Amino acid sequence: MFGGLALDLGSGSVTGLIGRSGGGKTTLLQSVAGLIPWIHPAEVRGRMELDGEELEELDPGQRAHLVATALDRPASQLFLATPRQELEAARRLWGDAPFGRTAVESLGVGPLLDRRCTTLSSGERQRVVLAVVLHAVPRPLLLDEPTAFLDREGVWSLETLLGEASRTGGSALVAEQSGWRLGSAVTRWTALSAGRAEEAGAPRPPELPAPGHAPGERVLLRARGVTVERGGATLLRDVSLELREGEVVLLGGANGSGKTSLARVLAGLDHPRNGTVEVAGPVLMVFPDAGLQLFAATVEAEVASTGAGVAERARVLRRHGLEHMAARAPWTLSRGERQRLLHAVMDLLRPRVLILDEPAQGLDGEALETLVRLIHRRAARGRAYLLISHREELAAAAHRRLELVDGGIVERGGEP
Ligand SMILES: Nc1ncnc2c1ncn2[C@@H]1O[C@H](COP(=O)(O)OP(=O)(O)OP(=O)(O)O)[C@@H](O)[C@H]1O
Ligand SMILES: [Mg+2]
Repeated sequence: MFGGLALDLGSGSVTGLIGRSGGGKTTLLQSVAGLIPWIHPAEVRGRMELDGEELEELDPGQRAHLVATALDRPASQLFLATPRQELEAARRLWGDAPFGRTAVESLGVGPLLDRRCTTLSSGERQRVVLAVVLHAVPRPLLLDEPTAFLDREGVWSLETLLGEASRTGGSALVAEQSGWRLGSAVTRWTALSAGRAEEAGAPRPPELPAPGHAPGERVLLRARGVTVERGGATLLRDVSLELREGEVVLLGGANGSGKTSLARVLAGLDHPRNGTVEVAGPVLMVFPDAGLQLFAATVEAEVASTGAGVAERARVLRRHGLEHMAARAPWTLSRGERQRLLHAVMDLLRPRVLILDEPAQGLDGEALETLVRLIHRRAARGRAYLLISHREELAAAAHRRLELVDGGIVERGGEP
C-alpha cells in the first residue's frame, strides 16, 4: 500500500494524519504498533526505529512497552471486565505517573470504574481506552480516530490532554478525519495519499448539502412516553418523537445520554419500561460498529442473504461501487467500504425508517458528502432517517435536530 513512506515523530509533536477513507491511515498506525504483520498478514519492509530500538524485530506485545495504541474500534480493545482492571493493567505496563490520573479524571472515567465494560456506551468506551493509553505518556501514542465517539466536552478534554502530553515531551500520531475538532492540540498535519506522506493544512469541516425536499405529512414512526431504565436508574423519561415520511432528523446528546438506548427501542430491539412505539413499516438500525452486522463470508453472500435476485444484487453492488469486491470477505473491507456494503444491504431490505448510529465515524469529507447525498435520495422517495451523531456538520444535512438532555428530548435550532 505504501512505497518509501518516511515519517518522523519527534518528542513534543502531535502529528495529525489525514487522507481519504481507505487510504491507509489505519494500516500505517497498525504497522507501527506491530499488529501488521504479526496479526494482520502483510509484507512490511523498511526501518522503524524508536529510541534507538529497531521496531521490526519486536512483536506487538514487546512494542506495547514502547508505544501505546488506541484502535479505531474502542470496543475491540477492552478485554477485561471493568475499566478499573484495564487501568491497573496499564499501570503495570507503563507505570503509575500522575498524568494517567489526570487523564482518568478529565475524561470522566471515574464514575465508570466498576461498570462492566460491555455495558458502556460507545463514547464511554472510547474515553476508557484513551485514559488507558494516556498512561503511556511520554511514550509515543498512536491514536486511530480518537474523537469518533466523543461528545464535544470529551473532545475538549482530549485536546487539552494531548496539549499537556506534548508539552512534557510526549508525542502522538493521530489519524483523525474530523481533525478540526482537536483544534490546537495537533502541531502539524500530514496527508497520506497514494502511499506517500506529505505536509498538509489543517482539515476543515465539510459543508454538507441540505435536503432538497420537504418531509411529507404521513408519520412513519411515533414514539410516545418512552421511559428506559439502565442499571436500576431511569435513563430516558417520557420521551416522545415522530418521524415523517422523507424526514431526515439528527439526534445529538452527550456521551451516555441515551441515544443508542432510544434507537434500540425505536427499532424494536429493546422493550421500553413504559411507552409505545408505533411504526408504519419496517424500522432497521445500523449499529455504531457496522462490522458487527456483516456475517457472510463474502460481499456477494452478504447481499444474497437479503433474498434479492441475482440481477438486482448486481445492480445494487454496482450502484455502491462494490462490484469489484464481490468475492472479498466483509471484514477485510475498510470502514468506508463496509459502510457502503451495509447501505447496499439496506437498499435491498427497503426499510421505511432507517436509524444510523454514528454513521460519520472515520469518513472523510467527501465520503460523508456521498453518504449524505445517498440519504437524501432515499429520503426524497419517502424513507425516514434518524441520524445519531456528534458531528455538528451533519445538522446542515437534516430537516430537524433533536438532542437528549437529562433524560428528555429537546428540539434544537440549526446553530451548534
Ligand atoms: N446494563 C447497564 N447497566 C448500567 N448502565 C448501563 C447499562 N447499559 C447501558 N448503560 C448506561 O446507559 C447510558 C446510556 O447509554 P447509551 O449507549 O444509550 O448512550 P449514548 O447516548 O448512545 O452515548 P454515546 O454518545 O457514548 O454513544 C450510558 O451511561 C451507559 O453506560
Ligand atoms: Mg451511542
